[in-house]
Amino acid sequence: MADQGAKLLEIRDLAVRAGERLVLESVSIEVDAGEVVAIMGANGSGKSTLGFALAGHPRYEVVGGEARLGDVDLLALAPQDRARAGLFLSFQSPPDLPGVRNNLFMRTSLNSVLEAQDREPVDAFDFLERAKAIAADIDLPATFLNRPVNEGFSGGERKRNELLQLAMLAPKLAILDEVDSGMDVDGLRAIVETVDRMRAQGTAFLLISHSLSMVEAVKPDRVAELDGGRIARTGSIELAREIARTGFARARESVEG
Ligand SMILES: Nc1ncnc2c1ncn2[C@@H]1O[C@H](COP(=O)(O)OP(=O)(O)OP(=O)(O)O)[C@@H](O)[C@H]1O
Ligand SMILES: [Mg+2]
Repeated sequence: MADQGAKLLEIRDLAVRAGERLVLESVSIEVDAGEVVAIMGANGSGKSTLGFALAGHPRYEVVGGEARLGDVDLLALAPQDRARAGLFLSFQSPPDLPGVRNNLFMRTSLNSVLEAQDREPVDAFDFLERAKAIAADIDLPATFLNRPVNEGFSGGERKRNELLQLAMLAPKLAILDEVDSGMDVDGLRAIVETVDRMRAQGTAFLLISHSLSMVEAVKPDRVAELDGGRIARTGSIELAREIARTGFARARESVEG
């Protein structure tokens, strides 16, 4: 068991290199179960790098710090074991998986997660019932379940498919990397409803977004601004409003300095 009072997610002094560049120098974030932390930051500030590094993408080398999910040392695990421990990352640019059928991909993922929790796998019939119900909630036609993952999907359809996976897998921690970009108004509403429902069930969120209206709509517990390889500012929704008014810290410094 995790210590009483321990946070669900604890990231401490995380340093990450991507290619030649030390993108994250020292990032520290704590998130409780059911909390939503909005991560904002300029293009290239390292938001996606943070998500990839936590998920275990091999091209993002963690060179310092710690990341714990409950009592699990995330950084010690292979990517698939981080997912089995309850981490979910929705991609800013969801890739195609040609030849891999969407419903089989999702059922395999789900059963792998259930197995890690010593729970029974879902059979194809039950899975399809659940997947169709969620797909209907987020306005994704059920025919998309039979198509290869993301192949030929429009931008918004890809994001809806990420949302479908999120709702299906019910992770402990969901990192949503600009899941709102490219979504129409109904899609945006589906994101807010999905986040609301899941946080009530204890899922914690790192919500990466450039949109003030999105951040306002999810009512985050905190807003954190990534800049210069660290969390430069943390605050309430007021911080997101201030960023919308005056820009990011670095941009402001260069204007003022
Ligand atoms: N493999 C790599 N090689 C070199 N540089 C990289 C690599 N991966 C990422 N970077 C650089 O790291 C920086 C952070 O990129 P990242 O994608 O994390 O930014 P971001 O905050 O998500 O930006 P955006 O808002 O545009 O999505 C960028 O300058 C990017 O060019
Ligand atoms: Mg990004």
